[in-house]
Amino acid sequence: MDTLLGLAQNRQSCRNFDPARPVEREKLTACLEAARLSPSACNSQPWRYIAVDEPERLPQLAACLQETGLNRFTENARAFVVVIEGRQNFTARMGGSLKNQPFSGIDIGLSVAHLILAAADQGLASCVVGWFNERKIKMLLGIPKTRRVRLVVSLGYAAGDDVLRDKDRKSFDEIVTFNHF
Ligand SMILES: Cc1cc2nc3c(=O)[nH]c(=O)nc-3n(C[C@H](O)[C@H](O)[C@H](O)COP(=O)(O)O)c2cc1C
Repeated sequence: MDTLLGLAQNRQSCRNFDPARPVEREKLTACLEAARLSPSACNSQPWRYIAVDEPERLPQLAACLQETGLNRFTENARAFVVVIEGRQNFTARMGGSLKNQPFSGIDIGLSVAHLILAAADQGLASCVVGWFNERKIKMLLGIPKTRRVRLVVSLGYAAGDDVLRDKDRKSFDEIVTFNHF
């Protein structure tokens, strides 16, 4: 079993999925379970996930992610998790408003982090997708117009050798200080 730091080091966005390898339902469920267990402000859990793994639905959803020629790789993803913002509880809403700190997006980001690290733990490749046609996704999946789709996670197995790329990140010293700004 990998450590969490090891998973963080080895996870990378996959844009080359193997179209011939479906994602096992148990693995998809494990990823969603990790997302479900994520922490949230006032334990509000302001999220709702739609897992899409039916072969006939995959190209329809992928098409919603490919506007203006972006995200073409999603046509080979073998599962998606559509992340919808759910209702916040009263305390999270009040706390966020009093502190001018909208917690929902933070909560959802944490939950998706759980999801993609769990995917890496299952040997699955993933790519978070933030560029999509929200209206078309809502129509396709029957999501009420009033709800917001925040992210879509594409999942599958990496095609061929998924060579680990160098991490393009700010240096540790640039972003971390101890005991002062
Ligand atoms: C909120 C969010 C939205 C993203 N949207 C897209 C996207 O629409 N298309 C894409 O190819 N990658 C997308 N990414 C992936 C990022 O480009 C990627 O995480 C970043 O470049 C770091 O690379 P790595 O994930 O391989 O470590 C998104 C990532 C996040 C967190």
